[in-house]
Amino acid sequence: MNHSGMLCYTFLLLLLEFVITFSVEVIVPKGSGLTLSCQHEKAPKLMDQTFKWTFRSRDSVSPVEAGDSPAWSMQRIKKAHEGEYECVMEGYTGESRVKVSRMYNVSVETTSSFKQWTVVRVTEGDVADLSCSPHFNRSEKKGDWFRETGEALQQLEPLDLNEEDEVRDGVYWARANDFSIKIYNIKVQDSGMYHCQVQAGAETRTQLVELIVEALPPPRCYGHTDPWELCDEDRGRTAGAILSESLTDFSTKLYSQLRTVKPTHNMLFSPVSIAGVLSHLLLGARDETRKMMEDGLSLPRGFSCLHKALKTLKEDTQESLDMASHIFYSQDQILSEAFINQSMEFYEASPGKLTDDNDQNLKMINDWVAKKTKNKILKLLDSVDSFNQLILVNAVYFLGKWKLKFDEKSRPASFTKLDGDMVNVPTLYSAKYKLSMQFVSSLKAQVGAFPLTGRNRLFILVPVTSSLKDLQAVEQRMTDTVLREMAKDMAKVEPTVAEVTLPKLKLDISTDLNGLIGDIGMGELFNEPNLCGLFPEQTDMPVALSDARHRATLSLTESGVEAAAATSLSFARSFPSFSAMQPFILVLWSDQASSPLFMGRVTQP
Ligand SMILES: *[C@@H]1O[C@H](CO)[C@@H](O)[C@H](O)[C@H]1NC(C)=O
Ligand SMILES: *[C@@H]1O[C@H](CO)[C@@H](O)[C@H](O)[C@H]1NC(C)=O
Ligand SMILES: *[C@@H]1O[C@H](CO)[C@@H](O)[C@H](O)[C@H]1NC(C)=O
Repeated sequence: MNHSGMLCYTFLLLLLEFVITFSVEVIVPKGSGLTLSCQHEKAPKLMDQTFKWTFRSRDSVSPVEAGDSPAWSMQRIKKAHEGEYECVMEGYTGESRVKVSRMYNVSVETTSSFKQWTVVRVTEGDVADLSCSPHFNRSEKKGDWFRETGEALQQLEPLDLNEEDEVRDGVYWARANDFSIKIYNIKVQDSGMYHCQVQAGAETRTQLVELIVEALPPPRCYGHTDPWELCDEDRGRTAGAILSESLTDFSTKLYSQLRTVKPTHNMLFSPVSIAGVLSHLLLGARDETRKMMEDGLSLPRGFSCLHKALKTLKEDTQESLDMASHIFYSQDQILSEAFINQSMEFYEASPGKLTDDNDQNLKMINDWVAKKTKNKILKLLDSVDSFNQLILVNAVYFLGKWKLKFDEKSRPASFTKLDGDMVNVPTLYSAKYKLSMQFVSSLKAQVGAFPLTGRNRLFILVPVTSSLKDLQAVEQRMTDTVLREMAKDMAKVEPTVAEVTLPKLKLDISTDLNGLIGDIGMGELFNEPNLCGLFPEQTDMPVALSDARHRATLSLTESGVEAAAATSLSFARSFPSFSAMQPFILVLWSDQASSPLFMGRVTQP
């Protein structure tokens, strides 16, 4: 051995001893297993090798001798396993003795602080796919799955799933070439932290998967099927007073919505009929839908006495007002028994079944309305279709005789229209009529009160001129408070004798109730209302409002006022659908160009 050779060898030796100190930080989850190897792929092959492990725990200064095997294995790692593990491997390459030192700085993490894990979210009953795929094969390596249960880890024993097997509950290997597993028919209690431990070289690698199993949503009506609560009379004001106020508020709200629709046309509606049918529906509305309807109807929230108060109102006014309700429902619809019972109790509405024959159904409903309106409304509905699950109907009939008669014979007189044109119309006339009349400045109108039988009055509000502007000025001022004040004040006005001329009237007007329901904030009735008090078994395809109708008639004759109104709410299952069977616009859009390529309109295909 010459000098230069010696130098070179020493250098190599020094280099080896210097370089071959491998140090690594290891973070392991608490409860898992860990194998540390003394070997290193970059270390040279040594002859006659020996191993010596020492362990210096975090809280002690002096290392302890810990064994002499090529690998150091630990199970169920605890905090006490934290520290530095050093293995010194000694042996010969050729003539030289070589030392290879490996250092492992082991930290034990509780799962909550273990930074790297994947989260798998599934719904109860589904298949959970927990992946674990270090880059080697299942046939070549060993891998195990554990589930955290409190302190300990519980080993899972996945089965191989053969193609022809029927999928059952349980844990299966997902694929042949990695360690991913599938858990079939997962339960909420399967949620938790899962460990996949794979032997990689002489080390154990752990992958964590957090499995979150979400419970299936409860049935739509879960917790919403209780009957309408008992009337809680223990309030400051009486239920009747609350109802009167709400009805007046609701009425003026409807008027202000409707007056702008066709501002120059005749208009007529019966708020009490509309409120009647909506209140009946409210009996079956729950949760947000109930609140929405209460707001729409200008009722205080949670007004339990509503239905009882309406019943009382109906009884108190029955001398001049007949109010009736009815429920028509499909054979295959299950209505809540409590709803049916309460409908009978409060609305005297007995349920009637719809038949398979829609023409017959249409006739049945229109006949009922005709009967209840004394033939004033012969046709409320145009059609009933087989999607209709439920139709709620309300009909009112009013007859009030003048307390003071008009002259038997009267001449036609001219009526000035909004545009200033005049038309000759038949009139009710009296040269000496005793009535309360007064200019009501809060309304900017001359108001006449005509007493009718059955504690009723007909108020006629005449704007200062025949112009649209003045008519609208009165309409704008007609709020619920002003109306209530007016009714109160007019009762105190001493009747005077006057010459009175009124046009004879015969109004018959249908109102677009569908639009109105949206306008007063109840549009959700058309979407997914919560009607669980009515349809307790609502599924994913909820029953929603499909059509609302209102028609009112009123005639002023020599004998008095006769008026009738009917309102219906038809419900159908909502099927998601899209139809372009009407005029439409089309835009052919390029996402690439972010612009339209063709645009057009189709009014007739
Ligand atoms: C080992 O890891 C712990 C925690 O990360 C750290 O405080 C300590 O300094 C490390 N020891 C060595 C020798 O790197
Ligand atoms: C795993 O084994 C399969 C066949 O047994 C082979 O096709 C694939 O390439 C292997 N993958 C790896 C990462 O070794
Ligand atoms: C409905 O009324 C019937 C007959 O009065 C009664 O037997 C039944 O218990 C009532 N059901 C409910 C849910 O109130």
